[in-house]
Amino acid sequence: MLLKPPDHITARERCSIVRLALTDFRCYEQLKLGADSRPVVLTGPNGAGKTNILEAISFLAPGRGLRRARMQDVTRNDKMLNSSPGILRWAISTTLETSTGNIKIGTGFENTGNGEDGGRRVVRLDESNANSHAMLGEVLAIVWLLPEMDRLFTGNAEARRRFLDRLVAAFDPKHITRLNNYTQAMRERTRLLRDDQAGLRNLDMDWVSALEQRMVESGIALAAARWSFVSRLGSACKLVVGSFPAAGLSLIGDVETWLDQYAALEAEDCFRTALSESRVPDREAGGALIGPHRSDFAVTHLSKNQPAAICSTGEQKALLISIVLAHARLVALDRGVPPLLLMDEIVAHLDAERRAALFDEICSIGAQAWMTGTDRTLFNDLGDRAQYFHVENAIVHTV
Ligand SMILES: Nc1ncnc2c1ncn2[C@@H]1O[C@H](COP(=O)(O)OP(=O)(O)OP(=O)(O)O)[C@@H](O)[C@H]1O
Ligand SMILES: [Mg+2]
Repeated sequence: MLLKPPDHITARERCSIVRLALTDFRCYEQLKLGADSRPVVLTGPNGAGKTNILEAISFLAPGRGLRRARMQDVTRNDKMLNSSPGILRWAISTTLETSTGNIKIGTGFENTGNGEDGGRRVVRLDESNANSHAMLGEVLAIVWLLPEMDRLFTGNAEARRRFLDRLVAAFDPKHITRLNNYTQAMRERTRLLRDDQAGLRNLDMDWVSALEQRMVESGIALAAARWSFVSRLGSACKLVVGSFPAAGLSLIGDVETWLDQYAALEAEDCFRTALSESRVPDREAGGALIGPHRSDFAVTHLSKNQPAAICSTGEQKALLISIVLAHARLVALDRGVPPLLLMDEIVAHLDAERRAALFDEICSIGAQAWMTGTDRTLFNDLGDRAQYFHVENAIVHTV
């Protein structure tokens, strides 16, 4: 199927990293890299430091980066032994070029002197400290694709939910707050039920109900945001480009069924009743058995009318890329700026036609995609539409 997206679904503005500096981040003691707004291709042998650069950039999104790493794993090994209180264990600093001028944004992990894990994440925007990570999402949208995500459709629902929530957050940064509010209320309720079982306290029903009310309000808001996003993204996914297959998207779960059948307030009532009725099983299970934290993001190969999970490996990868490209077009349309794309080993299993389609689409959206690979020749089709760096032993050279 060869459909071109309408002209208005192309980027109106740009947001690109034009300077990246890393300090004591994984294998990099110091790295300074200058770039322009074109896509970036990083090639080099295994273990050279390519994915680490993508991971560093992923810390400019709220959360723990693309490897969901612990802070002591990210800190360069040698540095951990010598860091003293008050200084940054690792730091990432970037200059973003936007249509309204340059923005300096950075993040790092400040040592608080309480052992290996002791520290706090700091975020700096134009030389001032920002008060939360969530703010990062307001400044730029970042989406990543990793080789391990080739198994996204056959793996567990949690990974698919996480992928979906990142897409929603890149589209609407407030999604992170919804997610955090819901998770926090759910954890507090689980703790309360667990302590009761252990005989640590007599269950305070008013407290449990108050936490369930917080779960209901934040949970329905969370599910409704996913719901309306999936419906918009689903439409965008039908405008497939090049040889990528169109993906059909849906959400599966009790909360989604309620939202489908009832108005939001009634869906809240259903959720509230379900929670209060499942306190005993939840206590035994060690967590809530019902709620948007158990929903699944289901993907189908539309023209084959087949669930993604039973598609071939190459088809699953093509579906994933198709979703990410549709999402990038949607974000460009909605936020006026396409997301930054971090694509680790993206061309490894793509045939020549799909590689060319991917490159054309990235350039047409105007997204600064950071792509890695071991074989430089696989990027030849990009020509001077991209910039190239060779990475070896944590040293990066312009090619
Ligand atoms: N905390 C750390 N301190 C120092 N080095 C680290 C740390 N964490 C990881 N490394 C090292 O960084 C090196 C580069 O890793 P990276 O994942 O970036 O390689 P890569 O170029 O993506 O390789 P591949 O092609 O195999 O994916 C590895 O040798 C890894 O062991
Ligand atoms: Mg790698």
